Amino acid sequence: MTAVEYPVIADEDMPRWESWIEGITGITLEGRKRVLERCIYQRLLGCGVPSLEAYQRLFDHGVEGDMEKAALIDQLTVKDSRFFRNSKAMDAVGDYLLRRARELDGESSEFRIWSVGCALGQETYSLGMLASEQFAFTEVKWQVLGTDISPSAVVYASRGQYTDKQAERVSTHRKTRFFDKVDEDWQVQPHLRDKVSFGASNLKDIDSCPFADQDVIFCQNVLIYFRGDMANHIADELVKRLRPGGLLVLGAGEVSEWDSLAVTRWRSETVNAYRAR
Ligand SMILES: C[S@@+](CC[C@H](N)C(=O)[O-])C[C@H]1O[C@@H](n2cnc3c(N)ncnc32)[C@H](O)[C@@H]1O
Repeated sequence: MTAVEYPVIADEDMPRWESWIEGITGITLEGRKRVLERCIYQRLLGCGVPSLEAYQRLFDHGVEGDMEKAALIDQLTVKDSRFFRNSKAMDAVGDYLLRRARELDGESSEFRIWSVGCALGQETYSLGMLASEQFAFTEVKWQVLGTDISPSAVVYASRGQYTDKQAERVSTHRKTRFFDKVDEDWQVQPHLRDKVSFGASNLKDIDSCPFADQDVIFCQNVLIYFRGDMANHIADELVKRLRPGGLLVLGAGEVSEWDSLAVTRWRSETVNAYRAR
């Protein structure tokens, strides 16, 4: 087995790494040198490359180098999620869906929910469970889309299989209704999985992002990794992708001093929820 040296990035080299990563992902690594070193170390172990110098040379190897750059970006993303993670934000969506279910009663409309930066999919399926509950006795054809920059997260989320620990925040009632027990794991049932889809999409390219006409956009614990002006720009672009009256729910601290004439604050002081005009 190759001996692998723990990578130490020189302070003067850090700005080059930061601007390269921010240029691709929008994520700022300012002050997070240790995180980058840890991720590179994981990649050195993964590729069996002995040192940072040898690893950097790998980047110049055509397609192989491009694949390794993508693998490092994937390693850098924080793919942490939980079912019904922010209960107040989820309750706000539940209330909104109930209201829309009443308004749309009898209409066979299409209703789109987008979970932005979905990581391993728990947030996306949570939104799907809420939609299934609130639209149960309506003609509404709803669907939920989860997107993430990380291809490995998208593959994981698409499987819809979670450990007991990952599923601990799902109530027994919802487990019975939406999951099957497969050995020690919980597998999302087909009736929910069929309405939930996942895709890789980079928020850095939000301006050309094709997803539009959304009824709910849920974006939590994602924009915190971007610089303030970029986070605000993404929030503006998300609003453009809402239908009139649609709901944008952002996490706490996701944007600072963001304001938009295209939305009104909705319902609650404790949740960053906005309705498109
Ligand atoms: C901490 S997780 C949040 C997951 C989920 N929204 C939640 O709150 O449970 C952040 C996710 O944002 C994704 N992400 C980071 N930069 C991104 C970008 N430029 N485009 C799309 N997704 C991105 C990461 O890959 C990661 O899966």
